[in-house]
Parts: sequence; structure tokens; C-alpha cells
Amino acid sequence: MSARDTATAAFAEVFGGAPQGTVFASGRVNLIGDHVDYNEGLVLPMPLAVGTAVAWRRRDDDRIVIHAADMDGASYSFGLTDAPPERSGWHSLAHGMVVLMQAEFPLASGVEMLVSGDLPRGSGLSSSASFCVALGKAVAASSGHADIDPVRIARLAQRVEHRFAGVACGIMDQMAVAVGSTGNAMLLDCRDLSWREITIPPEWCVMIVQSGVTRELVDGAYNERREQCESAARKLGVASLRDVDPDTGDWTGLDPMEARRARHVVSEIRRTRLAAEAMATGDIETFGRLMRAAHVSMRDDFEASHPEVDRQVIQIDRIIGPQGGARITGGGFGGASVAVCLAAEADRVVEAIRQEHGPDGAGLEVMRAVH
Ligand code: GLA
Repeated sequence: MSARDTATAAFAEVFGGAPQGTVFASGRVNLIGDHVDYNEGLVLPMPLAVGTAVAWRRRDDDRIVIHAADMDGASYSFGLTDAPPERSGWHSLAHGMVVLMQAEFPLASGVEMLVSGDLPRGSGLSSSASFCVALGKAVAASSGHADIDPVRIARLAQRVEHRFAGVACGIMDQMAVAVGSTGNAMLLDCRDLSWREITIPPEWCVMIVQSGVTRELVDGAYNERREQCESAARKLGVASLRDVDPDTGDWTGLDPMEARRARHVVSEIRRTRLAAEAMATGDIETFGRLMRAAHVSMRDDFEASHPEVDRQVIQIDRIIGPQGGARITGGGFGGASVAVCLAAEADRVVEAIRQEHGPDGAGLEVMRAVH
């Protein structure tokens, strides 16, 4: 059953009757280009078929009632003029999203919403952005603005993370889930938000491997990385690390740690550009080589990987061989890896990866995202 159908069925159980509409926002996997979005760089995410659906119906009063079947404390309700709580998990995100949307697209009445998702949470597949964008779309639809520019929703969803979750994230996740199309890669320029779709060659398979490593204290480490990048840019006298030429970048004015962070960002932007070209020309060997280099850079220069994921990525690379590659994906510090291989090899590769043992000794979980 699709997420929309599940949400519609659950809506009837929780609220009784049928919803007036349903909306959907996907999750995403980032193929290459991590920790560069907030440095105005290039990223190459791919929206997934799995994501978050919201079934909605207007109410006669001024209350917003949200039932999130898959979340802790599944029901949350508030008045249209109540202030959102801060740092209070999904309640803050949901309430914050409704408030920011409402400021631009006022609701004439309350709304009841049933949220249902099939994305594993906290696994680097943007469950949070998917949740916020889906809620934003539901508010837009219920206030009669279903045709709102999705970039607007993406920007508001990013602001919600900043203000109500305390995560100083970039815009990649929100753009990928609000604007991108499932199964196509999206080369997004995070400086001006221009993008171009790149078809994943039908001979390629993209898969997501859950490492089984829970990410801890990630928000603090994420925000710290962002500050380090901004400090490096200031010392280099540029508006953002995007402005540093990868061939002539001179790190001598930076302390060694900042120099490593800057080197990751500057080299990752170049890798992303080259990877998009390799994908457009079907050159899987070059794409795989760039993925491996991106992983090493995340591990050594950005220090945003995890020893268990490093071990898994080496193993996945060995299984795939030169026709493809693997790397940690998303914010890092655990979570998931993304791997690319030939579709003709995918059954063998998936089977061999499943035999690999994660941190708890169970086999690794693999999801074929496309082809
Ligand atoms: C998280 C953030 C994104 C991005 C990635 C790393 O997913 O939400 O904005 O910075 O990490 O590329």
C-alpha cells in the first residue's frame, strides 16, 4: 500500500470519514556532495519513492490536530494562535511548520491531519525534511494554495529546522524532497537554488545500506562543522567556501583543523560537478572513483564518518569492484551509506552486502532505491 493510501485509511480510523485531500513528500539519498550545501556548493541528491504522506480535512473550530501514527506520543493539537514549543521533537517541527506557513498562507479554520511515513527515521534519508515539507504542502492545500511554489515550502521547512530544532542545516534536503522527482538525480546549486535533473542511467543501480550505527549528539557536531567552515571562509576572505578555487586554494592562514574542513568542502564541490558529468555520460567507473574519494574526504578531512561505517564502506567497495562505489551519505556520524553498481550486478551485490555484519552482528539492511 502506498503511503498516501495508508494515510487515508488511518485518517478514517482516527478522525472518522474521509480526508479532503492527501499530499506526499519523498525522502532523499544524497549521491555525492555532503556538507557543502551550507557552503553554497553543488549537491547531487535523489528523491526516493518512500516518504511522508499527510491526509487532511478542515475543521469547524480553530484547532490544528495532528496525528502522526509512526511517532512517539502520536497526537498533538494546538490553537491557531498558540506559540510552538522549542526543541520538543516532532511537536516543535510540526507546530513550527504550521505557524510559518500560516504567516504567508493564512488558514481560515483549523485542520486535522494524519501523518504517515515509510522512511526509517534518523537514518540519513531526510525523514525530518520530508515530514516538514509534507506538512507544509498539507497546510498549503487546505488553505487553498495547492499551487504554491515548492521552493517557498523548502525555504520555510529549512527555517523550521533552524528555529525550532536548533539544527543549522543547509537547503539540500528540503529542496530535494519538495522539488525533485523520484528516481532522478538533481544537480542543485545551493548558491542560487538553480537545478538540473540528471537521469540515472538505466544500467546503474543505486542502493542504500543502513549501517545500524545510531547517530548520537549529531546536532551539536553538525552545527560545529558549519561554524568551522564559516570561520575558514572568513579567514580566507571569501563569502563562502564555494568561492575558493580548488586548484589554487591556499590554506596557510588556517589552523590545521580548519584547513582540513575547507579542503573537504572545496574538493567535494569539484567531485560533485565531475560526478554529475560522469552520470550524464554513463561513466560508472569515474562515478565510483569519485564516491570513494568523497568518503575518504568525509572521514579524514571532515571527520564526519564513523569507524563502523568506514569498515562497511570498504567492504561494499570490495564487493562492487571498480564498476561503481560506496560512501557514507547525508550528515554522517553513522546513519546510511549509498552505493552505486551496475544493475546487472545488483542481485549479487545486494546478497553479498546482506551477508556483511553490522555492529550488532545482524546482517546489513539494503534497500534498492532505483533500478
Ligand atoms: C544534513 C543537512 C543537510 C546537509 C547534509 C550534509 O542532511 O540537513 O542540509 O548539510 O546533512 O550534506
